[in-house]
Amino acid sequence: MDAKEFQTFGHQVVDLLSEYFESIEDKPVFPDADPKFINGLFEEPLPDNPEPFEELLQELQKKLLPYCTHVGHPGYMGLITPSPNPVGVIGDFICSALNQNLGVYSIGPSAVAMERQTVRWLTDLAGYGKQAGGNLTSGGMMANFIGLKLARDWASGDRAQHDGVQHRWAIYGSEERHVSVDKAVDAIGLGRNAYRAIPTDVEFRVRIDALEAAIEKDKRDGIRPMCIVSMFGTTNTGAVDDIRTLRRIADREGMWLHADAAYGGGMLLSRDFALHGAGLELADSITIDPHKWFYAPLDAGAVLVKDEKRLTASFGMKPAYLTDEMEGAKERYQYYVHGFEQSRRFRSLKVWMSFKRYGGRQIGEWIDNNVRQAQHLYALAKDDAEFEAASNPPMSAICIRYKPVPESDAMRLHADVAERVEKSGKFWIGTTELKGKMWFRINPVNFRTREEHMDQLLALLREECRSVAKVQA
Ligand SMILES: Cc1ncc(COP(=O)(O)O)c(C=O)c1O
Repeated sequence: MDAKEFQTFGHQVVDLLSEYFESIEDKPVFPDADPKFINGLFEEPLPDNPEPFEELLQELQKKLLPYCTHVGHPGYMGLITPSPNPVGVIGDFICSALNQNLGVYSIGPSAVAMERQTVRWLTDLAGYGKQAGGNLTSGGMMANFIGLKLARDWASGDRAQHDGVQHRWAIYGSEERHVSVDKAVDAIGLGRNAYRAIPTDVEFRVRIDALEAAIEKDKRDGIRPMCIVSMFGTTNTGAVDDIRTLRRIADREGMWLHADAAYGGGMLLSRDFALHGAGLELADSITIDPHKWFYAPLDAGAVLVKDEKRLTASFGMKPAYLTDEMEGAKERYQYYVHGFEQSRRFRSLKVWMSFKRYGGRQIGEWIDNNVRQAQHLYALAKDDAEFEAASNPPMSAICIRYKPVPESDAMRLHADVAERVEKSGKFWIGTTELKGKMWFRINPVNFRTREEHMDQLLALLREECRSVAKVQA
């Protein structure tokens, strides 16, 4: 493909995508087709002959687009994946064209500098000081893994990187943590059973008395407390733990404090609902995902560390083929030496461009709108004879449930209704379990969603719940 062809086809793609964004609200949020059919669309041997670009584009329009989940549709309020902001989409396009490799300075000097600045914006937002650092990751899973590896290495006096796990250690955190925390506890060599899932209070925040009891029991059993994982926005309800108290306990027991703000980090840009004094900056490391509530297209997670040197202590291996200057005025910053991943996409470009184009104010307004929508739904459900809400949402995640059925039927009802909602093509919501009960999990992370969508969603849920309940009766 020569430059002229690239231009022609590039324009065609941009036309296609602008039309896609323009008409996204008219599409069914989720495709009405079974997985077997969708798999069948792509079954063919590796092509030997080239296909003209026009035909390739037509094939995408036929096979890919109609069977996407349109996460940019205002009715998409499911698992946390945002409506991608169009500037970020363009950023990703440029990123692939330049193909800078963020692992090493020599494959992207300006890209490394841009990521350093993007990380600085995030550490400033989190309230960290000048010693802080971090890097952009594939997502919250990877960031939580890095955070817990930092915890392990620090707790071992920097021996675990070399000698592996020598102690019986425990990690404490919410029963409402994301499953990535369990995976991380496993991946750093402790085994999932080393995670203590601490019960939460009525607002889904870690119960301090239960945490203290778990620490005491472990100490009696000869197990060393290693780390607390605090939640700054749980996946189900956006709950924020009492990070200040967790910090005090971590200090008293000599533990690392990690904060999972993968989702909740967006609240740092909120003007109207800012969580002043929550204490996020007290954590030693933070997971924060621009590809969640900063509306960046996938993938762009981030791990932030209060003391940047801990990254080097944990990951700093310098292979023979890396001969660049590593220190002093001529330092060439090697993410590879200060982080886990080597070859790495230029993820910061889309985040940097989005911050520059929209500014924190515009992104913050989108975030506040999403919080307002969740609170609107809460107000409706709270005064409703048929529905109840799990908690008053501090963020945009809200769980509501249909009350008039016996608990034995509730699991089936909520699952069936969510399936009907999916089939309607108007909305996509999830279901979840909270304190032993089934709920609809509704989470706008979407700048196209409007308050009226919450009214429409509740009306649809009411209609479908009544109908399924009648079938069950
Ligand atoms: C609180 C929290 N932490 C971590 C993650 C994992 O993030 P990712 O899916 O980007 O790996 C999620 C995902 O939804 C989350 O909600």
